[in-house]
Amino acid sequence: LDNMRALGLDCVRVGEFAWSRLEPTEGHYDFAWIERFIEMAREKGLDIIACTPSAAPPRWLCQRYPEILPVDQHGHPLLPGGRKHYCHSSRKYRELVAALVERLAAALSGYDNLLLWQIDNELSSSNSYSADADSRFRQWFQEKYESLDRLNRAWGTYFWGNDFSDWEQVALPRPPLGGKAAIPKAILLDMKRFRSDEIIGFVQSQTEILRRICPGVPITTNWSPIFDYGFDFHKLAGLLDFPAWDHYCPDARAAAFCHDFVFSCNPRNTGFWVMEQQCAPPDSGSCNSWPPVGWLTAAGRQNILHGARGIVFFHWREFPYGAEVEHGAIVRLNGDTDTMVYREIKEAIPQWREAAANLADHTRQPEVGILFDMENWWSLQPGGSFKVKRRTQAVDYRALLRAWHQSLRKDGLDVVFHTPASDWSPLRVLVIPSLPMISEELQDRLTKFVESGGLLVVGPQTGIWDASANPTGQHALAGLSGLKFLELDCFDPDLEIAVAGESFQAAGMWLGESASPLKNTQTIAVFGASTGILEGKAAIAARSTGRGKVITLNTHPTKEMLEPIRQHWIEPALERPTHASDAAPLRFRWANKDGAFEIEL
Ligand code: GAL
Repeated sequence: LDNMRALGLDCVRVGEFAWSRLEPTEGHYDFAWIERFIEMAREKGLDIIACTPSAAPPRWLCQRYPEILPVDQHGHPLLPGGRKHYCHSSRKYRELVAALVERLAAALSGYDNLLLWQIDNELSSSNSYSADADSRFRQWFQEKYESLDRLNRAWGTYFWGNDFSDWEQVALPRPPLGGKAAIPKAILLDMKRFRSDEIIGFVQSQTEILRRICPGVPITTNWSPIFDYGFDFHKLAGLLDFPAWDHYCPDARAAAFCHDFVFSCNPRNTGFWVMEQQCAPPDSGSCNSWPPVGWLTAAGRQNILHGARGIVFFHWREFPYGAEVEHGAIVRLNGDTDTMVYREIKEAIPQWREAAANLADHTRQPEVGILFDMENWWSLQPGGSFKVKRRTQAVDYRALLRAWHQSLRKDGLDVVFHTPASDWSPLRVLVIPSLPMISEELQDRLTKFVESGGLLVVGPQTGIWDASANPTGQHALAGLSGLKFLELDCFDPDLEIAVAGESFQAAGMWLGESASPLKNTQTIAVFGASTGILEGKAAIAARSTGRGKVITLNTHPTKEMLEPIRQHWIEPALERPTHASDAAPLRFRWANKDGAFEIEL
């Protein structure tokens, strides 16, 4: 603790996997050790981030209540030995977690250095097929659809004669034997919604206890770097005081993506935390090299400029045993602080504090937004181990978000993600990379956004499905785009789709939608040679409505295509571009086996 203080740290996170130590046998709690630690930390002037240890059910619990274990699609339980071996839908597990959290919260509530609660650790769906998961799934559907007829219609079960005639027939979808028969994506989409709601319910049962017993102590949870973990980030963030994520992204552009994404999950515009900042080589890859020299200093500064209000490192001291003995740390196993990481952090902390103090305003109000929606992500990529028939399997929603984000972020331009329901008032530009399911309400919002002067950039396959990912037979935004949509064609992901404009040549990827412009719609570029049925049709179109404009892209842009879009339409639409920092950019170079890199933060 003295070494932590000397380094300049002011809080410690503790207990995220400590259930077996907090409740060594059922109903016998031992909080003395953690309270002693909290008291010692208090004496040294260190605050505590206390964690609910629900990510690590102890052995006694799994032995006594095997029904809490997640079960795979073949009925095999995931046995203890690692972590996260629990099913979010297990009633018994929720009960046991609640009993522990209740007592732990009561024991720690009196400490004035209790700064923050972290719930669980890096939540993700266990994709469990336990008996509880099946029965809760059935209940969820009964509440959602009320009648079997409505359920059968939404899922299209009449096709191939799979319609349900009794609620008891409804169960979580399993890949059909041999995985050969295809499943409608409507079913998988609802399964994902259900599993997400289960995770959110699991977290909520903990936040309710903590808020009741420790009022005023903020609550968060730490997310892994942003991928699809089977829950709706924005919905889950609604339960938290602010979101947090674990930064294991040596590539600054990947980190920027996660920062801006997590930032967008806080509707209060009060930023986020980096709950695990990598500071040395991790141990999860096949070859875990040191991050580039000077990276940690730069990463910390980048965190702050993107809106991080707290940075916690993973981890303090090398582990003497367990699954992560080879993971790098700040301090050596023998306690020696004479390490590169310790020195770098010591030098960096005053710089980071200065960077934070120099931020004129801690809220960010970028004029450029990217529209994101988790359910649309699932609708585009519902498969997993299921066979889903699609015109193309190439569409990668996360890759699209990353490409758009990276292109827009160029030169430090500030950009964040928005959802269909977020506050768009600071925005002058809204980009929809792709959003097949658009509600009428969203359609109205988008129309108003354009009419009142916004620039809307719309990617392909937008507004074509209903809320069950079934086709509606039309494009909801066709009127706004001023296009009559015709055919869809797909291309091998390795092929570029030629796009030719008056002032530029570029390429799209994955798919193209042919369309003919309506009156008053300007064709900016057409599909070029070797694009088959698309050739000569509008690839990019522009239409003015009210005081604003819509740019429609009928193919997904490659990096090269994003550049002219940014230059020709997005930059000119900004009145007072906000940049993440007015400070001189930090250039940062390194080389590895893939070549030499340079990044400007
Ligand atoms: C994180 C996790 C930590 C630790 C770390 C190792 O994803 O939350 O508990 O395992 O990875 O890099």
